[in-house]
Amino acid sequence: MPTPQENARLEQIKKSWKEKRQITDRLAKIKSKIGVYSGKGGVGKTTVAVNLAVTLAQQGHAVGLLDVDIDCPNVTKVLGISEKPDYVDGQILPSEKWGVRVVSMAFFQENEEEAIIWRGPMIHNAINQFLQITEWGELDYLVVDLPPGTSDSPLTVMQTLPMDGFVVVSTPQELANMDAKRCINMIRKLNLNVLGVVENYTGEIFGEGGGKRLAKEVDAPFLGNLALRASYQDSSMPTTLADSSVNEEYTNLAKAVKESLKELGREAA
Ligand SMILES: Nc1ncnc2c1ncn2[C@@H]1O[C@H](COP(=O)(O)OP(=O)(O)O)[C@@H](O)[C@H]1O
Ligand SMILES: [Mg+2]
Repeated sequence: MPTPQENARLEQIKKSWKEKRQITDRLAKIKSKIGVYSGKGGVGKTTVAVNLAVTLAQQGHAVGLLDVDIDCPNVTKVLGISEKPDYVDGQILPSEKWGVRVVSMAFFQENEEEAIIWRGPMIHNAINQFLQITEWGELDYLVVDLPPGTSDSPLTVMQTLPMDGFVVVSTPQELANMDAKRCINMIRKLNLNVLGVVENYTGEIFGEGGGKRLAKEVDAPFLGNLALRASYQDSSMPTTLADSSVNEEYTNLAKAVKESLKELGREAA
């Protein structure tokens, strides 16, 4: 006869096994899971995640966008989504905007100003639950906006979500890329893939080249430059839909990301 302690332990194992299987089942219909990541906030991580997702959708792919930047979940704000996703029969059905299915941690914040201060296990549990009950349907790509840096939050997200690879957003300036380098080391320490480095804010003001140099230094593909442009100030729609030069940059980025995925044997379509 098993002791009550043994029984409890057995139940625990069964429960976590069931959870894992549920997540695997949910994510089985997603062909490629792409994380967008950076050394620090403010480098344009959310901008890249949103515009990359919208560009892929525009090309006819089925695309989801998951915002798990716990400390600063603002994907919905950038996309102008105010209504919460449908919650039907214990399932979250993503909201849809610009052809992209969207789920964000922000949906579960009580109010906008409230900073979420969560520790590892809470983040792990929240993301696990998210993944278990969100019905994405069939997806070619799931783009994930991660928390920046190398603290507990991004680490937990990376360990919880089975990503195919990461797009690292950096800037033209050398100094900022020290952080990006640390991020790349963390990704690789976890035995995960770096799809490449993209440089944002390229142009006269901040210069050009930091991203390319970083990519070379860490032996990762360089995915391209995204110029600093005034057109990003218009928040009525994703800039890739409003500015043809930006659209061209994102079309190239999408192409480079697909090539990296292919190289790793993880391409979606
Ligand atoms: N290439 C760019 N040119 C001009 N403004 C940009 C560009 N990329 C991002 N921004 C702006 O910079 C701000 C920070 O970008 P965001 O994507 O929120 O950064 P992060 O998610 O890394 O904190 C936003 O107001 C965004 O519109
Ligand atoms: Mg952000």
